[in-house]
Amino acid sequence: MVGVSARHDIEDRADVEHLVRAFYGRALTDPVIGFIFTDVAHLDVEAHVPVIASFWETILLGGQSYAGGAFRPHAALHAQVPLRSGHFERWLVLWKRTVDESFAGPRAEQAKAHAERVARAFHRRLEGLPVEDVAANPLPIVVTRHGGPPQG
Ligand code: HEM
Ligand code: HEM
Repeated sequence: MVGVSARHDIEDRADVEHLVRAFYGRALTDPVIGFIFTDVAHLDVEAHVPVIASFWETILLGGQSYAGGAFRPHAALHAQVPLRSGHFERWLVLWKRTVDESFAGPRAEQAKAHAERVARAFHRRLEGLPVEDVAANPLPIVVTRHGGPPQG
């Protein structure tokens, strides 16, 4: 039972990076949401991990390393592939499983609770957006001419 009794809380940036890497190790190959990272976003994991680690460092360790604005890239993503509640549910299952596997304590609990709040907030905000916006469909109204004089 060494693995279980050895679990400690999230203490520093190295712990946060470990958590984030372990999560992406799962998420990228996940049958439900993996394609969003690999095929839609073409995510550069090495570039992405420090950003996400800063997000969690700011939330869990009181750091100031994340500048904010986490919602926006998800709105852009949603324009390409609608992010449904099932995607967020799956994201949360993988996140909580990854947290519990390596960590235990108040910050580990906070990591799970805050993810749930953010996921809910993102989903609610996305529901108010059109599925296809200008990024996916640069000409929302396509005018074609079928005979007659050219339109001015
Ligand atoms: C130690 C306390 C907390 C810290 C340091 C913290 C930090 C953060 C950060 C850095 C973000 C990302 C903001 C962005 O991307 O612009 C965020 C988002 C969010 N937080 Fe917290 N948070 C804390 C507590 C809470 C609590 C207590 C709640 C609710 C009861 C909460 C609800 C949310 C929600 C809903 C979002 C997503 C907002 C959105 O739609 O973009 N947070 N938080
Ligand atoms: C269906 C669920 C989700 C999917 C498929 C998803 C996917 C992605 C992708 C592909 C990116 C990179 C976008 C880009 O840089 O072009 C990203 C960025 C990010 N995601 Fe998510 N995400 C999901 C949910 C969440 C949740 C629930 C959180 C927070 C608890 C979160 C936090 C972040 C943060 C902090 C970034 C970096 C934003 C920045 O560049 O500052 N994501 N996500």
